[in-house]
Parts: sequence; structure tokens; C-alpha cells
Amino acid sequence: MIKIIVFLSIILNIFFLLFVNKKKIKSKIFKKKIKEVNVSEVHKIFESKNIDLNLLGPKEDVIIKSFCIPPNNKVIGMTSDYEAWILASLSKLSNKIFEFGTCSGKTTFLMALNSPKNAKIYTITLTKDMTKDLTKEKLDNKISFRNLINESVYENFLFSGSEVEKKINVIFENSLNFNENDYKKYFDLIFIDGGHIYSVIKNDSEKSFKMLNANGIILWHDYIPGKESAKDVVKYLNTISKEKKIYNIKNTSLCFFKNNV
Ligand SMILES: C[S@@+](CC[C@H](N)C(=O)[O-])C[C@H]1O[C@@H](n2cnc3c(N)ncnc32)[C@H](O)[C@@H]1O
Repeated sequence: MIKIIVFLSIILNIFFLLFVNKKKIKSKIFKKKIKEVNVSEVHKIFESKNIDLNLLGPKEDVIIKSFCIPPNNKVIGMTSDYEAWILASLSKLSNKIFEFGTCSGKTTFLMALNSPKNAKIYTITLTKDMTKDLTKEKLDNKISFRNLINESVYENFLFSGSEVEKKINVIFENSLNFNENDYKKYFDLIFIDGGHIYSVIKNDSEKSFKMLNANGIILWHDYIPGKESAKDVVKYLNTISKEKKIYNIKNTSLCFFKNNV
């Protein structure tokens, strides 16, 4: 009897340790194939200011207007605060911005709050009704398809009714049907965070490469090897990173591409 109890407690402990260290174990098994770089590689605005020998701080360029959404509000599909800060800081330099995937509008709102006065932000999204006509392609991940439906629930956004709403143009359309030819080489900043299924991430990325201007930057969200719902994002980015200079920003799930290098 004692032997059985000891055996069971060992097994339980192993499961407990595996569960607690799930993230660490996953990152060891599922390695990033895209090179990780410091955030200062995206733009020199992110280089730190030396405040003291043991203290690095932000330069004026990356001081942003921001807000937090408390977890109790149960807003879905958001970027982390660090990722949001990177996007908001880049928005300060961008007059023409495009976002694939509005969801609650957290990132859209931050972009509008921080971009120059005359900036224009286009953001494309689906309503619940529009998801009824969607079909899952053969290559599309099942869980990402389910998430896509669950995230298409907003018709009003965090920026609705705000002072900066006038900068934002919400496009209620399936990005698969969006005509990118009206915006060739137009945008300074493009954020790809729409459908995470293969067919959509491929479509949104190919359209973004055409819409990006000479000095523009594209950022993708959710490059997380080992996470089931990010599988298609990882697969697509690993594939195109063989021909395009795409990097992952350290400590984030953001990848980026810069047109001028
Ligand atoms: C992960 S959420 C976006 C989160 C948002 N970017 C943020 O930072 O708060 C995904 C969004 O993509 C939209 N979406 C998914 N597939 C789409 C498609 N084919 N066309 C347009 N929007 C799509 C969903 O409706 C949802 O609003």
C-alpha cells in the first residue's frame, strides 16, 4: 500500500512540475526558427537613454499615451502591454497605418492616440454575421478557425466616441476580398493581427508587402512556436523568413519586416 502511495505521489509531482513549467518546456521543444533581435533593431527610437550606470530608461520618442484594460473586463484578443508600447511608439512616426484585425480596437485606439494629428488609420475586421459565410480551408488550423469566429464579436470599439475616432476608418470586410491595389506602396506601418488561419495570414501578409511604402514596417502578432492557436502564423512566418528579412522582437510574439534594408 505504501509503495502505491509513494508511486502515485511521484507521478503527481511529475505532472505538477510539467504543468508549472509548461511554458519553459514548450520553448525548449518548439524552438523559434526566426532570429530574435532587440527592440532597438526595429527603430533607433527604442535605443535606451543612460540615466545612471545601473539605470537605462526611455527616450522622449517612446513616451506614449496609454491605458490598461483590467482583466475583469474580459476583453479578448489583446496584445501585451510591452507589445502595445512598441506599436504605439512606432505610431508616433506613422501617418498612414493599416491594421488587419480590429477586435476590441485596443491597438487601433493606441495607434490613434499616439500618431500625428493628421494620421489616418485603417482597420479591417469581421462582424459576427460575416463569419457565417466563412469556410475552413484544408491547410487551416481548427483551433485558429474557432478563435477567429469567437473574436469577431465587436461592432463598437474601445475608441468609439473618443476624440481620436475621426482618425480611424473601420472596414467591415473579409480581408480575403479586400482590394490592396488601391493602396500600393502607401502605408508607413502595417500590423497583421487578423485571422490566424493559414489562408488568411498568407493573404494579409502578401497584401501588406504590396501596400508597404519604401520606409515602411510590417509587424505580425502571435509568433509563438508550440501554441496551437498560433500554429499557422508560425508556419507561415517560418516559410517566408527564408526569402524575406523577418525578425522576432525579443520577449515578444511580434515579428517585423522593414522595407528599406
Ligand atoms: C486577434 S483579434 C485582433 C486584436 C487586435 N489587433 C488588438 O490588438 O486588439 C482578430 C481580429 O481579426 C478579425 N479577422 C479575422 N479574420 C478576418 C478576415 N478574414 N478579414 C477581416 N478580419 C478578420 C476578427 O474579426 C478579429 O477582430
